[in-house]
Formats: sequence, C-alpha cells, structure tokens
Amino acid sequence: MPASFSAQNSSAHESSTPERGAIVTRLRVAGCVFAEDEADLLLSAAQTPADLEDMVSRRVAGLPLEHILGWAQFCGLRIAVDAGVFVPRRRTEFLVHEAAALARPGAVVLDLCCGSGALGTALATTVPGVELHAADIEPSAVRCARRNIVPAGGRVYEGDLFDPLPEALRGRIDILVANTPYVPTEAIGMMPPEARIHEPRVTLDGGLDGLDVQRRVAADAGLWLAPGGHLLVEASERQAPDAAAIFAASGLIPRIARSEELDATVVIGTKPQ
Ligand SMILES: C[S@@+](CC[C@H](N)C(=O)[O-])C[C@H]1O[C@@H](n2cnc3c(N)ncnc32)[C@H](O)[C@@H]1O
Repeated sequence: MPASFSAQNSSAHESSTPERGAIVTRLRVAGCVFAEDEADLLLSAAQTPADLEDMVSRRVAGLPLEHILGWAQFCGLRIAVDAGVFVPRRRTEFLVHEAAALARPGAVVLDLCCGSGALGTALATTVPGVELHAADIEPSAVRCARRNIVPAGGRVYEGDLFDPLPEALRGRIDILVANTPYVPTEAIGMMPPEARIHEPRVTLDGGLDGLDVQRRVAADAGLWLAPGGHLLVEASERQAPDAAAIFAASGLIPRIARSEELDATVVIGTKPQ
C-alpha cells in the first residue's frame, strides 16, 4: 500500500464513504460518543488498511483513542502520549490558563506529577522564556514527558514528588503546577473503563478523600516556591474547599478558580512575599 494511504484517506473520507460509514458504526456500537470525529482521526493516522483495521479494533476493544493515535490534543498542541501514560484532559487546560495568567516571562516553572508533560509543555509555549522542569514517579511517564518537555527546552526528573529535583531549584520556583491523582480510592471503580483499565492506578488514586498527594505537595511547596510563587492543583468542585484549607494550613494563601465551561476547578496557593 502506498505511503500516501493516510493522506488519500483523510481527504477521501471528508465526505461519507461506505468504509468510513462502517467504521463509524463499529465505533458507535462500541460506545464512542464522538464516533465520526474518531473515525476521521483513525483514517488519517492509519498507514495501511491493515493498520486501520488494527487501530479500529483496538478502539472498539476500549483502548483510549489517544493511546492508539500516540498523541492528545491539549491547549492547541499535539502532545505525545504513550500507552500506560495518563491522557491529558481537556478540563486541565483551565489550570494551564490560570498558571499562564500568573507567570511572568522567564518564570521558573515546575510541572510536578507531569505524566506526559502536557501542562509544562503548554506553559512553555504560552509564556516566553520559561525555565521548565518536570517530574513524575512513573518511568513510562518520564520517558513520554521527555518527548514533549525536552523539545520545549525543559528537563524531566524521575522520582517521588520533590525528591529527584536538583537542590538548586529550592526557593526558586515561580509557578508549580501539579495535576496530582485526586480520585478518591472508592470512586475509581465508577470511572469509565478507558481510565480504570488503561491508566495506571498511580495516576488516579488520591487516597480516601482524593487529596493525599495534594497534602504532601502542599506540605513541601513552601520550601521550593520563590517568595510570591504559586502552587496550582486541580480538584473536583466538592474537594476544592478542603484543598484550599490544606494549602492554608501549609502557609500558602489559597484561592479557588472555577470554569463552568470546562467543568474545571483549580486551587491556587500563593507563598507570601
Ligand atoms: C492525574 S495524572 C496527571 C498527569 C499530567 N499532569 C496531566 O495532567 O496530564 C497524575 C500523575 O502523577 C504521577 N504521580 C503519582 N504519584 C506520584 C508521586 N508520588 N510522585 C510523582 N508523581 C506521581 C502519576 O504517575 C501520574 O503521571
């Protein structure tokens, strides 16, 4: 099959064809809400008919679309996402938006619990001249983040929260974004299978009330933030007041920001000057 299979397909399938129609039907039956958009993405990504069949079959079997494509759309960017790595969510764009509003050009940015590194990468493309650092405990996430963060001029460290960071970063971080796991343990069973089965538990499980990792991040954030620096985490709307209280108990000045459009809640803690 010629290398141009995918290019031919993407234009050929702008309008409906029997093949596209059959894929849409298979995806719809499998429960894909955006079956038509997904069919078009798979048709454009596949290099050969066998490739296409393989991709559609994996999607029908429940693999996240982003793991099949190898990328996710985030803040207008294509972020590389490997199998087993948390897929960046659209709602998290609000956290990036809030962080970008607080960041000055040249800010020192840390993307903690970085997963694919989507947040840090997006910030580096939005805020001029940032010094970018990222860290995650999962080796697969660290490998994936390096594919996104290094081309954006940043560095990625592997380990538990702040442990792997260079000492030289202490007291210098202006913007600390941390989309930690925040699903209460008991709620994981109610998540869609895409997340429950294909994203590792360490990416989701936030303990009894979902805030265990945020407690640990907040407890040490003051040591790493510059005076006036900000910690931003995502939480559910219900968790946000508790997360804000945790920030206050850790010496940060808390504030809650909300986007109804994205159904996103961000808790921001500022280190006093
Ligand atoms: C909800 S995912 C978010 C990933 C990414 N920030 C995003 O929004 O796409 C949480 C991430 O935290 C990482 N993580 C969990 N516990 C951690 C820990 N103790 N230290 C560092 N990273 C951790 C997981 O491996 C996972 O990549």
